[in-house]
Amino acid sequence: MPDDALGPEIVEARNGALRVTRRAEIPLDRVLEVLRAPGELLKASRKSETLRVNDWVVKRSRKEGGLGVLKHTARRTRYRQGWEAALHLERHGVPIPLARAYVERSRFGIVFGNVMMMDYLDGCVDVEAFADGLLRAGASDAEIQGYLERLAETVNVLCSSGAYHSDLAGKNILTPDGERFYFIDLDGIVLNRPYAEERRLQNHIQLYDSFIDRLGDAYLEPFIRQMLPRPGRLQSWMAQVKSGQAVRRARTEAIWAKQGGRRQG
Ligand SMILES: Nc1ncnc2c1ncn2[C@@H]1O[C@H](COP(=O)(O)OP(=O)(O)O)[C@@H](O)[C@H]1O
Ligand SMILES: [Mg+2]
Repeated sequence: MPDDALGPEIVEARNGALRVTRRAEIPLDRVLEVLRAPGELLKASRKSETLRVNDWVVKRSRKEGGLGVLKHTARRTRYRQGWEAALHLERHGVPIPLARAYVERSRFGIVFGNVMMMDYLDGCVDVEAFADGLLRAGASDAEIQGYLERLAETVNVLCSSGAYHSDLAGKNILTPDGERFYFIDLDGIVLNRPYAEERRLQNHIQLYDSFIDRLGDAYLEPFIRQMLPRPGRLQSWMAQVKSGQAVRRARTEAIWAKQGGRRQG
């Protein structure tokens, strides 16, 4: 599909310190109302807070002062990336929560923060939790294989759309039923660059790391193979995936140790 394929109609408006980019069918007042709503916290991280406001998800960058503001301004286009990526993926038929609006707070050309607003995916869990549920319920080999096959298929759709998701961990893929999958956390998506081997390897390391404590290689090798353009090289590729996963896991454990707790997503 060409990149100029028809997407949603987008409008932009300034409202005081806010620059609001939104789908044309969503009234500006509705965006402002959701922006003010306290919402229910889904996750807080160092960089952002993700809230639920009814059927909306609101992901806002943390308030920064001083250097943070300068960094934010310098990275203005970098911060818009999640919004641009969501529109690109929508045009290419990649399943994601649809982007509703993007709000930037700025004064005199200085950007203080941004907010991404999207559909709330109701009744979903991340793909790691879903795998745990299958195992708990005593799912058959065929059911688990089928689950991973459908996930690999969806990852292939994402990659062939010309997008690279730089954090393709299981926590960033949601599913309601093990049949349909949605990619979230789109801020780290890179568009219009070739999906080079190194990128494919990073994604396979992220996915392997997400599942290896739950599912063994008997499941994960066919899963990885399905996401390789030339499956002939599976053995040497798996060796690279495994050594990359060991490095990734050591890094995560070092972070857990420092924080004295476990990671979330
Ligand atoms: N559209 C959505 N629908 C339902 N839950 C979501 C949605 N977006 C995010 N979440 C939940 O909020 C969490 C944090 O969102 P995410 O974009 O992954 O932020 P972070 O960068 O902090 O990981 C996710 O792990 C998921 O549980
Ligand atoms: Mg995340």
